[in-house]
Amino acid sequence: MPSRFQAPRGTRDLLPADMATFRRLEDDARRMAALYGYRPIETPMFEDSGVFERGVGEVTDIVEKELFRIRTPGSDEERWALRPEPTAGICRAYVEHGMHTLPQPVKVTMFGPMFRYDRPQAGRYRQFWQWDVEAIGEAGPAIDAEIIELAYRFLNEVGVANVEMHLNSIGDQHCRPRYIEALVEHMSASAHELPELERHRLAKNPLRVLDSKNARTLGLLGDAPRMADFLCDACRVHWEGLLVHLETLGVPVTPAPLLVRGLDYYTRTAFEFYQTGEQGQQSALGGGGRYDGLIELFGAKPTPGIGFGLGIDRIAALAGRPDDAPLAHAVAIVVGADPGATTARLRLATELRAAGVPSSADLAQRTLSRQLERAAREGAHFAVVVGDELDSGQVQLRDLEAGTQRLVNVADLTREIQRAHGSHRHG
Ligand code: HAM
Repeated sequence: MPSRFQAPRGTRDLLPADMATFRRLEDDARRMAALYGYRPIETPMFEDSGVFERGVGEVTDIVEKELFRIRTPGSDEERWALRPEPTAGICRAYVEHGMHTLPQPVKVTMFGPMFRYDRPQAGRYRQFWQWDVEAIGEAGPAIDAEIIELAYRFLNEVGVANVEMHLNSIGDQHCRPRYIEALVEHMSASAHELPELERHRLAKNPLRVLDSKNARTLGLLGDAPRMADFLCDACRVHWEGLLVHLETLGVPVTPAPLLVRGLDYYTRTAFEFYQTGEQGQQSALGGGGRYDGLIELFGAKPTPGIGFGLGIDRIAALAGRPDDAPLAHAVAIVVGADPGATTARLRLATELRAAGVPSSADLAQRTLSRQLERAAREGAHFAVVVGDELDSGQVQLRDLEAGTQRLVNVADLTREIQRAHGSHRHG
């Protein structure tokens, strides 16, 4: 057993200073989701492993290597797994609760931690946070554009500079097989030159070869067939419609003919967000796409869907600290000349809090000047100094910002603080 414990590899503690940024992103995400009509949903953080195996796909990194499987007590079977992403669980819930009977599309959003047993490196964690948005039950390209514009606007509003939206169509069950055939044929001629991993991919899930980082593979991909040339009529109409809608909404498109995404459920629209110059799976700020076959995999009638997931850890690193993050929690800190008289200090702070004034009492056994120093360091606007005057129902109210002090009746304390603090904030 280690003599000192540390947070598990690939996880991190979000300290209060980190949480100021995280909370702002979460608040903005929830506000914008509500503005666009997406309602909160929560699904369990673990599910039957089959939800992910079937939903995300058996031959994906996420399921093959990264699923956090859980062995339940008294069983050898790893029946459950921590969720690596939210979409599969949300679709399972859509089917389980018969949400197809609700007005369509069902527009939902979720903000929470995801788990992937990935090799930890910069920007890649084993527990990370996503903001997820899904619209289930609508097929046309207009909803794709709405979803993409929402993610794009969010990234811009929270202050990520130079956001690029990479877009591709990966076709559907009608046209993709012909494309895969052409791709495999092209690559097979030189398969012996490919590294082991790429040969495995080519044999088991050929589209994954497209997002290879290997220089040799990339060289061969240079003149490989492109999905765009294989799209069936329906997919082409969808693609062209999407481009028109995105242009109308003012979302710039970076065409990305090699973009395929690491999850199997996608059809047609696939997109990812990057900061200019930072391309690569690892640095994607988020991504998503259409998944018209996914609901069916959970046993319901075919139902179209589209959504995105944004990586909040990566976005937090780029969005920076909020300027207006209140460093200070307390408007008032109650201090006292008699360090032992904690009851009076705690009682006054409790009364202030009951009236809605953020406040705390200094409960440490230290001198008044130390208590005042600390109140100033905390950034409190007022120190309420409890002394002998308390016997006649009064305390000193010291304005730490203005450097003034006056005697006030305890009965008037809340009102005095609210008035002075309010006029200071709005003046
Ligand atoms: P994804 O591309 O696997 O998509 O993940 C979305 C985002 O989550 C990534 O672009 C990245 O920013 C972040 N992310 C993924 N893995 C990690 C990690 N190990 N550490 C830190 N951040 C990470 C999905 O999950 C789909 N469910 C998106 C979606 C929703 N498609 C349709 N609806």
